[in-house]
Amino acid sequence: MARRKYVVGNWKMNGVTASIADAQAIFAAAGDHAEVDVAICPPFTLIGAMVAAVPGAAVGGQDCHSAVSGAFTGSVAAPMLADAGAILVIVGHSERREGCGESDADVRAKAEAGLGAGLSVILCVGEPREVRESGRAIDYVLAQIAGSVPDDFDATRLAIAYEPIWAIGTGLVPTVDDVAAMHGAIRGALAARFGGAAEDDMRLLYGGSVNGDNACELLGAGDVDGALVGGASLTAAKFLPIVAAA
Ligand code: G3H
Repeated sequence: MARRKYVVGNWKMNGVTASIADAQAIFAAAGDHAEVDVAICPPFTLIGAMVAAVPGAAVGGQDCHSAVSGAFTGSVAAPMLADAGAILVIVGHSERREGCGESDADVRAKAEAGLGAGLSVILCVGEPREVRESGRAIDYVLAQIAGSVPDDFDATRLAIAYEPIWAIGTGLVPTVDDVAAMHGAIRGALAARFGGAAEDDMRLLYGGSVNGDNACELLGAGDVDGALVGGASLTAAKFLPIVAAA
């Protein structure tokens, strides 16, 4: 089965009610690119309003708790995201792995929770600068894959986002050859562990300073099925050229 391109906006901690207009503009124009799956992951506070404003749009959460419910002040469970109308969730973003101390086991539990709630999951991996400079980036990321990807999943509902930490929000990007080498290594590891469905159906996204100028090149790299976009996903003017490049 040919993998459809997938371009996902991660709004991070940006956006208020007025920002729903940006999402409406993005999803309306994304309709011109029917061959691309487009999603936006706004802050939790905007999920319900975005779903209501753009019925049928692919809206997601940026994180979820691994438990279904309980005494976890400030956290949101995967079934709550589904109840709010989300259809996907990002787990394991480096801003949570590093900023909130999330381990591979934590990320795996969150991915299992998301899948268990019927959501699609985007599971993030990526190396820090010093690991890239030491030449150990592929080993580092494959260890994250081994530790954080669940054992059992529908390959059409789990995507991996490779986001080198040093490229996030910095304007720096890896070379196309480095992206292709990393994605090829991830694909190989998934195929070796899970077999055909992972090889054929799982989508591998690149994330880190993707913009309208570099999207064509980055999304054209080997085994890149789309992009996870931060800063350039906040407005239609910046996001749509990336969708068009996919
Ligand atoms: O989730 C998105 C990534 O962290 C990339 O963010 O496009 O602002 O570099 P960025």
